[in-house]
Amino acid sequence: MKVIIGCDHAGFALKMKVADLLENLGHTVEDAGCHSEDSVDYPVYGKAVANGVAKGEFAKGILICGSGLGMSMVANRFRGVRAALCNDLYSAVLSRRHNDANLLVMGGRLIGSDLAEEIVKTWLTTEFDGGRHEGRIEQLDEI
Ligand code: RB5
Repeated sequence: MKVIIGCDHAGFALKMKVADLLENLGHTVEDAGCHSEDSVDYPVYGKAVANGVAKGEFAKGILICGSGLGMSMVANRFRGVRAALCNDLYSAVLSRRHNDANLLVMGGRLIGSDLAEEIVKTWLTTEFDGGRHEGRIEQLDEI
């Protein structure tokens, strides 16, 4: 799967671990930055990742900032992007099964790397349930 990943300074350390995990799982990873723990503005990197998903260039996107909140706000401004802030496994499952989330957001200051890796693996392998959820997804794009 083609996955684009990005972060700000507060998500940098976790992003590097997640990028390694993705490559080890056989995914093609595009790293949209940032590339160090020097302070940056999260909208810059959130925009790059969300745009890649919105344009259909990447099947899935992953964004990490300190809390996950800022990146979620950025990503959900892009039509067609369904970004889900998941700092626990059950949210990761439901964001795929019910919301067909195409962009995963995590808070690098809130969760450890072991949990984050389990969230990523779960999120990437959980399918959308479809059915009654289809129409609800369609309504998102009509707003
Ligand atoms: C950076 O200090 C922090 O504000 C950012 O990583 C993110 O948590 C914003 O929502």
